[in-house]
Amino acid sequence: MDLRYEARRNVSIYAADLIERCIGCTIAIGSGSTVKILIDELTKKGIINKFRYISTSIDTTLYLRKAGARDIESGICPGDIDIYVDSADEIDPKLNLLKGGGGALFREKIAMLSSNRRIIIADETKLVERLGSTRAVPLEVEIYAISYVLKEIERLGYRVKYRETEGKLGPLISDNGNVLIDVYTGPIEDPVSIDKLLKNIEGVITTGIFPYMDYEVVIGRLSGAIDILKR
Ligand code: A5P
Repeated sequence: MDLRYEARRNVSIYAADLIERCIGCTIAIGSGSTVKILIDELTKKGIINKFRYISTSIDTTLYLRKAGARDIESGICPGDIDIYVDSADEIDPKLNLLKGGGGALFREKIAMLSSNRRIIIADETKLVERLGSTRAVPLEVEIYAISYVLKEIERLGYRVKYRETEGKLGPLISDNGNVLIDVYTGPIEDPVSIDKLLKNIEGVITTGIFPYMDYEVVIGRLSGAIDILKR
């Protein structure tokens, strides 16, 4: 049995039960493998078409469409979303999040900020003592500014690299037409000030650091248990 998959499925079932109580609501869906399991659960419950969806990436839009969802907003994010559901790449004890492993950080942040309720679902491998311990901090950056931003980050003393894929030469372009940069900070003492420091560089649109925003964080343990974390 794949324990990580089962842990993600358990938290997805929990989130699907919460969403089911909000028939007719507007639901924003993040990006990544965990939310795909959630979409599968909404399909199994036969309620996939009972919501309006706000998508945060081309990937999520395509997955929702394939699942049969018809009412999907993939363009301009509305300002009044009922529930936001997503996962994260790292979660610290204060429930700050590191996101953007899938490159959808900007849309995820805007949709999250536009939502009245925010539910983060993840398996326990995402828990860390400090953000930046296992992953680089992603940045979304205007293409024109790429050389300047790389130089400024190196000047701050961090190793930095634009993100690439095997399917394309050069930098990976985000769904918004920008480049993604990974900053290797190592474990971060103060996520709020690193977020501000990096965002302060001209050309940086946003970072993958999501400082605490009144999330409900639902953690699937490999044992099969579920923990609800609140600060
Ligand atoms: C996407 O850009 C990220 O913010 C995702 O939320 C994150 O990578 C989680 O992905 P998994 O659910 O695949 O772990």
